[in-house]
Amino acid sequence: MMDSEEIVAKLNWFYSLELNQVNLYMAQSKQVEDLYISKVLERASYIEQQHVDNIAAQIKKMGSTPTHLGDIISPILGKTGGNIASLFGVVPLLKVDILLEQKAMSDYKDFISQVEQDSELWSLLWSNLIDEDLHTSWFSSKVQELECRMQKEKER
Ligand SMILES: [Fe+2]
Ligand SMILES: [Fe+2]
Repeated sequence: MMDSEEIVAKLNWFYSLELNQVNLYMAQSKQVEDLYISKVLERASYIEQQHVDNIAAQIKKMGSTPTHLGDIISPILGKTGGNIASLFGVVPLLKVDILLEQKAMSDYKDFISQVEQDSELWSLLWSNLIDEDLHTSWFSSKVQELECRMQKEKER
């Protein structure tokens, strides 16, 4: 079980990650040419903003101030993610997003298991987790579709 100081620290980490994702997905939605993918990224950014807001509200409720810890994304991606990101194209872009969503999901799951005594926080973390799962699902199926199409074009 975590004490309230540890919970606030963890919430600030998520607050920062979610903020990073808001900005990343908004930037990506302007980069990609495919209108449908662009709209999905715009919508994903909006949902991440809701996560930023609900986590900020939770931090305030606990008597603390939301603190932006800066760049949370680079350490998560490390070298592998950095290399993927430097490649041009929508597939590597989505693969980076999947990596981030998976990290968020595993950390939400971890956090959930440690705050079972606080039913409100527990529910909040669950709802954010499920949103990340839906993002991951969509990104993954789009990657599969695009890779399949590229493979067919190669075989032609
Ligand atoms: Fe999120
Ligand atoms: Fe997400």
